[in-house]
Amino acid sequence: MTETPLVLVEKHDRVGLVRLNNPKAYNALSPELLAQLMDALAALDADPEVGAIVITGSEKIFAAGADIKAMSQASAMDMLLSGYVDLFDRLQAVRKPVIAAVAGWALGGGFELAMACDMIVAAENARFGQPEINLGVIPGAGGTQRLTRTVGKYLAMEMVLNDRRLTAEEAARFGLVNRVVPTEQYLDEALKLAQAIAQRAPVAVRLGKEAVNYALESTLSAGLAYERRLFYLLFASEDQSEGMDAFLNKRQPRWQGR
Ligand code: CAA
Repeated sequence: MTETPLVLVEKHDRVGLVRLNNPKAYNALSPELLAQLMDALAALDADPEVGAIVITGSEKIFAAGADIKAMSQASAMDMLLSGYVDLFDRLQAVRKPVIAAVAGWALGGGFELAMACDMIVAAENARFGQPEINLGVIPGAGGTQRLTRTVGKYLAMEMVLNDRRLTAEEAARFGLVNRVVPTEQYLDEALKLAQAIAQRAPVAVRLGKEAVNYALESTLSAGLAYERRLFYLLFASEDQSEGMDAFLNKRQPRWQGR
């Protein structure tokens, strides 16, 4: 008997869509699901026909976090040696833009998964939170770090220490999501955004993502120096000549991705 895949992969034009597919456990991120997700992302990242990636759950739930059943009996050594949380690092290594399309709950590791993406499109019914405190632990996949960098210390403290949850509108107000759209349109809107980015100059998109991410890791002066080097590097690309020539000749550019 073939097992049901825990993630489903589709292609829509130049966009790779990955659906989390563990509905019985509210898309809980078991080690198996996370491994399949990261394998799918690596394959789409390597696929020259794909320019951007969308990760989604269902209209009712994005992901309810780490699989509490699988974790409940784990020792510290089990957690360390399983490399479970380390799997999230594979998302950080993806070079193409990744958009989370979130409807319903994005809790714990599910919220951390969304925050590890490059952009978030939220349905009106999306809800975000870090409820690990209820289980006697704290977020372990970036929740205290990425959340704090985005919303600041005070709200992050309330969310991590007291399970404050955010509606989609609140998340937008605090800069956690790119846009809030009617629930029935959330996936179309995320695909539209991904398709628009996938039509753009691929090397510039890749280096733009790298430069923005570097801002979270560095001082301003180191970041400015890094940005400048990537900017110069793009003048070695065919797409730079093509883009500027197309602008000057009032025509659409034809990107080569090199
Ligand atoms: N792990 C495993 N199973 C889960 C789950 C999870 N994180 N979340 C939900 N489920 C399962 C439930 O056990 C239940 O299964 P059964 O039908 O077999 O009983 C099913 O999904 C539906 O759940 P509920 O009956 O609770 O549904 P609800 O609609 O009343 O509530 C919910 C939905 C708000 C998502 C609620 O299930 C919930 O709070 N889930 C836990 C969220 C959570 O604590 N996440 C953090 C996990 S720890 C973590 O993520 C660590 C990290 O940083 C890496």
